[in-house]
Amino acid sequence: MLLETWVCLTFLIPYFLVAQSATELSAQGLNAILQEYAYRGFMKNPKTGVLYDANLPKNLTGINVAAMRLRSGSMRRRGVRNYKEFLIPVGVVEKPYVERLVLVYQNLGNWSELFYPLHGYTYIAPILGLLAYNGSDLSSTNLQELNILATKESIRIHFPLLEIIVKGHFPKCVFFDLQGLFEFNNVIDGNVCLATKQGHYSIVAPAPSPPPANDIGDYNDRDEHGNKVLVVLGSVIGGVGLLVSLRLVVLCLERCRKRKKREKMEEASDRSVPLVMTQVGNTKAPMASQTRTRPMLEDENLV
Ligand SMILES: *[C@@H]1O[C@H](CO)[C@@H](O)[C@H](O)[C@H]1NC(C)=O
Ligand SMILES: *[C@@H]1O[C@H](CO)[C@@H](O)[C@H](O)[C@H]1NC(C)=O
Ligand SMILES: *[C@@H]1O[C@H](CO)[C@@H](O)[C@H](O)[C@H]1NC(C)=O
Repeated sequence: MLLETWVCLTFLIPYFLVAQSATELSAQGLNAILQEYAYRGFMKNPKTGVLYDANLPKNLTGINVAAMRLRSGSMRRRGVRNYKEFLIPVGVVEKPYVERLVLVYQNLGNWSELFYPLHGYTYIAPILGLLAYNGSDLSSTNLQELNILATKESIRIHFPLLEIIVKGHFPKCVFFDLQGLFEFNNVIDGNVCLATKQGHYSIVAPAPSPPPANDIGDYNDRDEHGNKVLVVLGSVIGGVGLLVSLRLVVLCLERCRKRKKREKMEEASDRSVPLVMTQVGNTKAPMASQTRTRPMLEDENLV
């Protein structure tokens, strides 16, 4: 009996570890979550070519997500004029080919720095993401991103609100691919960046001081503020995990108790001794009249 309890408990330990490590949300993990919410934002039969805004949970306040479902042939032949800040020209193709695709738009707002830290630079516009997914099944989760490629003209991203640019520092477009590698490009027309593929885009200016320490981005590096946010998110997830686990422990204990009871009954009936039911604690337990072994309080073994 004690053994069974232990089995129940040790089964739970890995569960705890998993629940805790899930709090270190990576940029790629965020993409997966946002894809799921974006797909949920579609109504039963989404119109193709219409942008649907997604509802995000409170713990992601500050991020905006929207999605549009398209026939890939239509994207290639016609492009998409008004896809939020993006202007998608003709000639954009996806790989591997899908008949219908979903373009997921992300505006990371005040979360940009947290998920895409860039040493020595300050974001003067929010990170905007453009990701493409297989649009055949709108209930899918954990989808792999499709590669999209602008084969004729570049995709244009028009950043409307640039934060004040520090004098003497020229802003640059920055592009992150899905592996977290980044590159810089020139800003054109004052606030436009050009794009050729899926990923995350923004405009940065060199941070006034201290001077840029290293240009090589550490994708998973998080600043202190980010850590605090993660700790809070982690506690929430951990708390829920704890409740679920406690419930599981209770279920385990109940199962152990029932099994013990059944074994006792079976044992008793095997010996064909008429049983007298007696009250033990809160539960009725069978008791042989001429007692060979006294029935134990069941909880003695378990606690
Ligand atoms: C972003 O701002 C919202 C309020 O507008 C806040 O709830 C959220 O925690 C902020 N996120 C970060 C990462 O600072
Ligand atoms: C897209 O999804 C559909 C339905 O789930 C599947 O049959 C098809 O193979 C997928 N295409 C790709 C390229 O993954
Ligand atoms: C946000 O809250 C939802 C429940 O509303 C939870 O399922 C999810 O794990 C949380 N997300 C993060 C990133 O903490």
